[in-house]
Amino acid sequence: MSEAKRYLSGIQPSGQLHLGNYFGAIRKHIENQDNAFYFIANYHALTTVKDADFLRENTFEAAVTYLSLGLDPERATLFRQSDIPEVAELTWLLLTVTGMGLLERAVSFKEKKERGIAATAGLFTYPVLMAADILIYDSDVVPVGSDQVQHLEMTRDIAQSFNNAYNAEVFKLPAYELGVPTPVPGLDGQKMSKSYGNTIPIFMKGKPLKKAVMSMVTDSKTLEDPKDPETCKIFELFSLFANEEQIAEMRENYIGGNFGYGHAKKALLEQIKEHFAEAHEKREEFLKDPDYVEDVLQMGAKKARAIAREVTDRARAAAGVDR
Ligand code: TRP
Repeated sequence: MSEAKRYLSGIQPSGQLHLGNYFGAIRKHIENQDNAFYFIANYHALTTVKDADFLRENTFEAAVTYLSLGLDPERATLFRQSDIPEVAELTWLLLTVTGMGLLERAVSFKEKKERGIAATAGLFTYPVLMAADILIYDSDVVPVGSDQVQHLEMTRDIAQSFNNAYNAEVFKLPAYELGVPTPVPGLDGQKMSKSYGNTIPIFMKGKPLKKAVMSMVTDSKTLEDPKDPETCKIFELFSLFANEEQIAEMRENYIGGNFGYGHAKKALLEQIKEHFAEAHEKREEFLKDPDYVEDVLQMGAKKARAIAREVTDRARAAAGVDR
């Protein structure tokens, strides 16, 4: 009698969600949604966002994005991180078993600091809040983008430290799964990231979308020249959307010559439009009914909280702060 594995993941509402988020994690979240827990990590976003209205709007928009892309609240549990106060409670328990050295080795803290984000204690202990997010639901598998792998390793370390400290199997050690193995390329060919300003938002459409795709950087080969599909970022993005047949055909076009980057960009544009056409329509509906979206989040929080309370109590009992 093997129980279904519990998938859990979080997405930060720190800006418009883009194709990097989509292929890195969100697509997989929607594909694996039975029994899954997905939440909007607004507490994590506080480490970088200092605008209440912006954060509120983006949190709502993230929920709308998941629903529009096909998340079914009957199958998956969707909620806001901040609706689960136990997460903050468990974070404290975990902080007391987390070594400074572990946090000091975190690449993402260093990287964010270098980018000019304020080095607060919140930013430094971000991975501990993330460990609490994961461990509090007895999660089995965490589907994430490749930039989160170190955080998952830290989560396992922290879980183990707690279990060892209290000589008890309080926490399950979670595994992770990657959406795509390498970062999704952005408009300038670097990894697509909000901080590089090179993104294509999932719900971009019309002229801005066309302009963005047409602005993608290429080498300076002429229309006639044969082109190398393996190094071309347009081809790489195209391949994420297209089926095998379409990819094979595009590869032939590249190698054969007389096929310009403009042609490749148009084909990519069509793929993007088609892929998200239905989601655009659904989004319009959800935007008209914010009460429904809020109901979904409340329902999700209620379900998630019941589990979070149990696991937190288990940790409190192990640590002797239960009475
Ligand atoms: N740190 C993740 C990111 O930036 C978001 C996140 C917060 C998360 N808590 C999580 C992801 C728990 C997975 C599980 O993408």
